Amino acid sequence: MADLLVKDLKLRLGDNEILKSVSLSVTPGQVVALLGPSGSGKTTLLRAIAGLEVPHGGSISIGESVFFDAARGIELPAEQRGLGLVFQSYALWPHRTVFDNVAYGLKLRKTPAAEIKTRVEKTLAQIGLGHLAARYPHQLSGGQQQRVAIARALVYEPPVLLLDEPLSNLDAKLREEARAWLRTLIVTLGLSAIHVTHDQVEAMAIADRIILLDAGVVTQEGAPTALYNEPGTLFTAEFMGSNNRLDGKLVEISGGRASMEVFGERITGMARTKAAAGSNATGIIRIERVRCASSAGPNRLKMELKAPMYLGERWELVFAREHLTVRAYASSPLKPGEHYVEFPAEALWVF
Ligand SMILES: Nc1ncnc2c1ncn2[C@@H]1O[C@H](COP(=O)(O)OP(=O)(O)OP(=O)(O)O)[C@@H](O)[C@H]1O
Ligand SMILES: [Mg+2]
Repeated sequence: MADLLVKDLKLRLGDNEILKSVSLSVTPGQVVALLGPSGSGKTTLLRAIAGLEVPHGGSISIGESVFFDAARGIELPAEQRGLGLVFQSYALWPHRTVFDNVAYGLKLRKTPAAEIKTRVEKTLAQIGLGHLAARYPHQLSGGQQQRVAIARALVYEPPVLLLDEPLSNLDAKLREEARAWLRTLIVTLGLSAIHVTHDQVEAMAIADRIILLDAGVVTQEGAPTALYNEPGTLFTAEFMGSNNRLDGKLVEISGGRASMEVFGERITGMARTKAAAGSNATGIIRIERVRCASSAGPNRLKMELKAPMYLGERWELVFAREHLTVRAYASSPLKPGEHYVEFPAEALWVF
């Protein structure tokens, strides 16, 4: 099996340029998360790959099989691409049993009845729903319905599964269980998948690679650890993780470090900007990297602790000073009042 390749894809809806030259690849056996804020074009991209939207530029192919090529005028209909698509709103047929929901697509394709039976039973067994084949969707839990929707895509044995926020209808706890289950299923069956989500934790948990989309453009792609630990842009830094943001004036850049002035203090971090001294600068630091200190020191700001919040496994502390709010975690609560908040230089990115 070859890679799915999307090259320079451009797509317009009405007057809006939705995808602006998007390129990506999916290697067999890989789960790729397509991550981005609402309206960034994730669903549109997935639909274009499936053959439900027509781009006006670029190409989509798997090995020798060309799905779309604007330059050569090739456009393969959705049913001939053989990709499995799972929508956010499971879209199950309410008056068909689980078995018939999964079998429906094969029937449309005139697959012989005996083969349908074998394939549907195998797929239902794979997703652990073999015993529910005779039930109707309304007799299933949300999590079970979502599995049926996935079974319906798996039954075609597609080279790539296209999943559009398949877990977003589940409540938080079920979602965490389902993402582990889904990742295991995809890896065990040796499938590959594009998993659309706007939840960065879900993307990191489920994917080998993340493609981060911003307004129809890929801003960064790479392993989850790379996007989380080495963001190349302010957008990536802010989108991944839970962050604090420091605004100040750039003082100097030297040796890969950038210093900014905040409340008259010099705060130094990793330089992610080439701007001139005196420009506005933005510092980003993950909540879990902020430290609390009892005395003044380098890269520390005096701030006032508002009410500590108990989160079960840790405390969340909210510090304030004029317009600046900084959140930090601690293993025990501190007393409200004045404290020093430290921003370790290697954990602070200055854009
Ligand atoms: N038929 C249409 N005509 C014009 N613009 C459209 C049409 N459908 C979608 N759009 C616009 O295209 C952009 C991308 O939409 P898309 O559904 O791909 O976003 P998304 O990243 O999937 O967002 P979400 O996370 O909310 O699902 C949005 O700005 C949307 O308003
Ligand atoms: Mg969408």
